[in-house]
Amino acid sequence: MEAVDSNPEALGVHMANAINKFNILYLHVIEPRMIEVNGKLETPHSLLPMRKAFQGTLIASGGYGREDGNKAVADNYTDLVSFGRLFLANPDLPRRFELDAPLNKYNRSTFYISDPVLGYTDYPFLETST
Ligand SMILES: Cc1cc2nc3c(=O)[nH]c(=O)nc-3n(C[C@H](O)[C@H](O)[C@H](O)COP(=O)(O)O)c2cc1C
Repeated sequence: MEAVDSNPEALGVHMANAINKFNILYLHVIEPRMIEVNGKLETPHSLLPMRKAFQGTLIASGGYGREDGNKAVADNYTDLVSFGRLFLANPDLPRRFELDAPLNKYNRSTFYISDPVLGYTDYPFLETST
């Protein structure tokens, strides 16, 4: 939780350059997108230096939703966006994004429990009309 680096940008660029030598297909990075400005979460473009350095496919994640995920790809900020908590709570997330349908809210209290069902496979799919 309290892992920090004195120069994360330099470290990230160094890592991207280092793995380029191995022709790694993709790099999946979780962004610390949690800077709060005036009570609102702001999205710093912290990945750009790594994005420029890495030669393969970049997958970004960390707090993305439908709109800002689409924008990140459209802006060429990343190649792909992955979703963690939204996918956990929405087993049909691609369908919901396609329809711009409402999303189930994730329940943080069931994230890290040992029950294999509760909070993992019991979130409802969209109701489908027949
Ligand atoms: C229940 C749960 C378990 C997770 N387990 C891991 C893990 O084992 N390793 C890891 O690197 N990240 C783990 N994560 C973090 C996710 O991979 C992801 O980085 C994080 O949820 C941010 O993406 P999001 O904003 O789309 O949820 C976990 C997240 C959740 C909600």
